[in-house]
Amino acid sequence: MAKTIYLLNGPNLNLLGMRQPEIYGSDTLNKVEASAVARGKELMLNVQARQSNHEGQLVDWIQEARDQAAGIIINPAAYSHTSVAILDALNMFEGPVVEVHISQIHKREAFRHHSYVSQRADAVIAGAGIQGYLLALEHMAALLAN
Ligand code: DQA
Repeated sequence: MAKTIYLLNGPNLNLLGMRQPEIYGSDTLNKVEASAVARGKELMLNVQARQSNHEGQLVDWIQEARDQAAGIIINPAAYSHTSVAILDALNMFEGPVVEVHISQIHKREAFRHHSYVSQRADAVIAGAGIQGYLLALEHMAALLAN
């Protein structure tokens, strides 16, 4: 039976495609989510994709995932660099967590080099563009198979 994965995207990622395309590319979040759902099916993963600009909403979804999802793939966006609340919520989740950044955060401004979420993430993918989400799914499938 397919396992459910929450694919969570944080603030400003709803504007993917329009937002600084030289950094984040020209594909929309809809397209990213649709390709993740399709790849998920091939990997026997039921991908539930959600995006919010609000920290508390992301915390609520992570808490919900405790009994609804086998794993979490998350691009916390700017909250990566600021949110102890998201880290605390992820620390109460028992399954695998894969963190994704579309851009290579370590080549960017110093304030992007630290992510609170990385302290919990089982894997971090940064700089692979939107393909990072598909790489995250493949790794998630491998983690859940073990
Ligand atoms: C991001 C990188 C963050 O620093 C930034 O605030 C984002 C997107 C990325 O996907 O590259 O909103 O997480």
